[in-house]
Amino acid sequence: MPLQRPEPPSDDKRWKLVNAAMRRHGYHRSALIEVLHAVQGAFGYLEEEALEYVADSMMLPQSLVYGVATFYHFFTLKPKGEHACVVCTGTACYIKGAGDIIEAVSEKFGVGPGETAQDGSFSLLTARCVGACSLAPAVVYDGEVAGYQGPEDVINKIEEWTGNDA
Ligand code: FES
Repeated sequence: MPLQRPEPPSDDKRWKLVNAAMRRHGYHRSALIEVLHAVQGAFGYLEEEALEYVADSMMLPQSLVYGVATFYHFFTLKPKGEHACVVCTGTACYIKGAGDIIEAVSEKFGVGPGETAQDGSFSLLTARCVGACSLAPAVVYDGEVAGYQGPEDVINKIEEWTGNDA
């Protein structure tokens, strides 16, 4: 039986470009960067669903794909808000309190994971591992990885962004 590849997340034609890139490289893991370039080239940024789709199609762990996407500065992850706060909820970060960070941010700003503040000032995102486990808990502020973050640090940073630091 031929290998069953997953269906694209939508019928957007741009997935065909992504599929073509994966096919061209025989779905081989060494082509991951090329494939992510193809996604970004087609969509302008790397959405979580795109990373999941690539991971599933190429049979790679999502953490690996996410790690590559966040490691290279030439990749952009989708931020709907003006700023993006990505809290790593991978095992190492979770054990060190990533859950508390998310809870504190959600409580303070009314923005849950995957959501954007009503005024569009920032998006709260989660990652499975941003490749900085030794700095856990890690939070990525507009692409900058910061280690040893606590709820207060994250709230302060967001207040800096929103100008709401009274
Ligand atoms: S689990 Fe958070 S950086 Fe790896």
